[in-house]
Amino acid sequence: MNIQKAKYEEEFEKYASRYDSSNPNIALKIKHMYEVEKIAYEIALRLNLGKEDREKAKFLGLYHDIGRFEQLSRFNTYDDSISIDHGDFGAEILLEGEYIKEVMPGLTDEEYDILIMAVKYHNKLKLPDALPNGNHYLCRIIRDADKIDIYRSMSEESVSDIFFDLTEEDCIISDEVEKAFYECQPISRKIVKTKADELVLTIAFSFDFNYHVSNDILLRKGYLKQFVSAFLNCKMVKKSNISSKILTLYDYLNEHLRNN
Ligand SMILES: [Fe+2]
Repeated sequence: MNIQKAKYEEEFEKYASRYDSSNPNIALKIKHMYEVEKIAYEIALRLNLGKEDREKAKFLGLYHDIGRFEQLSRFNTYDDSISIDHGDFGAEILLEGEYIKEVMPGLTDEEYDILIMAVKYHNKLKLPDALPNGNHYLCRIIRDADKIDIYRSMSEESVSDIFFDLTEEDCIISDEVEKAFYECQPISRKIVKTKADELVLTIAFSFDFNYHVSNDILLRKGYLKQFVSAFLNCKMVKKSNISSKILTLYDYLNEHLRNN
C-alpha cells in the first residue's frame, strides 16, 4: 500500500538529503527524528487530539532537531555546551525566510508561534510557563516523545561506543546529582561532573514526563531498561561498585513511572 506523504514529510526528506546520511552521526539523528515523529503521533492519538493536532505533533517529531544537521556540519559536535543551543538554532532555521510556512502551509500566526516555541524549548530544562504558548500541549508532547526515544538512540551501538567508553573516574555518581535525582526533578547539567552523573541526569529526564501515556509508552517500549543495561554492561562499570547504586536508582524511577 502506498501511503501518501504529507508535504512536511517530503520537505524533511529534501532537507535531510543535503547532508551525508552515510555519516553514522547524521544517520542516527535522522532515525531519531522519524522515531520521534511516530511517538509524538502516538501520544497525540492517545490524548484524543484531532487530526490537525496529530499532524502538528508529527511535524514536531520530524523537525524538533532540525538544528542538529547544521550544528554537526559547522561545529562537528552535538554538544550544545561547546557549540550552539540546537533548540534555539532549529527555531531560527524554521523562521529564516519563513521556511516553516513553506513546509507546513496554511496555519495561523499563533499556530506557527506554538510550533516554533515547541522546537525552541524542546531541549530546555523547563518550559517557559510565563510566555504565551510556552506551556502549550504540543510543546509538552514533543518533549515527552523526544525523551522516550533518547534512551533508544543512546543505547544503539554507534552512540554507546562513545557514551559508554568509560574510565574509572567516570564511574562515580556525585552526591549532589544523587540527591537531585531523589527529589524526582530533572537535573541541571551544571552539576554534572562524571559520565555516571550524565547517565543519572539522562534517566532523570523521565521524572519530567508531562503525560501518563508517555510513562506508559516508555515502559512498554523498554528503552529505559535497554539504556541502563547498556551502561551496566560496560567493562569499567562491571569493575566498579556503582552497579547496585544504578539499579536502585532505576528501580526507584520505574516505580515512579508506574505510579504516575
Ligand atoms: Fe533535540
